[in-house]
Amino acid sequence: MTTKQTRVAFVTGASRGIGRAIATRLAKPTTEGGQGRHVVLVSRSEAPLNDLKAEIEAGGGAASVRACDVSDAKSLADAVESVVEEFGRLDILVNNAGITRDNLVMRMSDEEWDETIDTNLKSAFVAIRAAARAMMKQRFGRICNIASTSGVVGNAGQANYAASKAGLIGLSKSIARELGGKNITCNIVAPGFIQTDMTADLPPQVIDHVKAAMAVRNLGTPDDIAAAVAYVTSDDAGYLTGQTICVDGGMTMC
Ligand code: NAI
Repeated sequence: MTTKQTRVAFVTGASRGIGRAIATRLAKPTTEGGQGRHVVLVSRSEAPLNDLKAEIEAGGGAASVRACDVSDAKSLADAVESVVEEFGRLDILVNNAGITRDNLVMRMSDEEWDETIDTNLKSAFVAIRAAARAMMKQRFGRICNIASTSGVVGNAGQANYAASKAGLIGLSKSIARELGGKNITCNIVAPGFIQTDMTADLPPQVIDHVKAAMAVRNLGTPDDIAAAVAYVTSDDAGYLTGQTICVDGGMTMC
């Protein structure tokens, strides 16, 4: 049941993979016995979001759906503002939607660069700007941006993606400094290699190579990322801000 006190969480890219796991986790009651959040599920198409909403509700949680393209600044800002209007609050923002458009830099087109930056980085700025007023007013906010270890250590063939993820880290640290005095935190969770559709097409030799580079010798799961996001967005994490938490099985130890 959603009451006036229920914390409201806005999760982009919630239709599948890591975003779906984050939304599902945030909707569950917390391990300390706190109430689950009302989770606003955001992605481009409505059908998979409606399925997830039904699943969350069947488990006793609460969810709403906002279909929007996060690279369309107006439609994303409208979605955030409609949530503040409907619930009178917005407590948690998770900027998770992301794409890859991999290419070697000499072959990379302007479109591959722009689409990646707009979807992965500009969207986070737009959503944070739209959410900040409500968070400042209520003197509470937990922002979590999903970056990547590629944004920390770089990756050949991913200059656009790595730049967008490194940009998220700079954005998050600046927001942490700008809004910290209002009890608004902003942290980064940087996954390594996680088993999702995004990594499903990697050849087996690449997967073997990646596993060998990890201290724990295995790929992660979306739930591994959701657990970190649940902590940084919890009420308990008020003294943690501007941090990059690399959830990567010890691949980078960054
Ligand atoms: P995915 O491709 O399985 O899911 C991406 C989600 O974002 C989907 O819900 C998709 O509909 C949504 N999305 C993409 N473009 C959108 C747009 N323009 N508007 C609205 N929604 C959009 O990806 P996955 O693996 O779940 O990744 C989630 C996040 O984690 C991404 O930011 C990704 O860069 C990051 N990440 C993933 C890693 C992995 O190994 N899977 C590693 C490091 C970071």
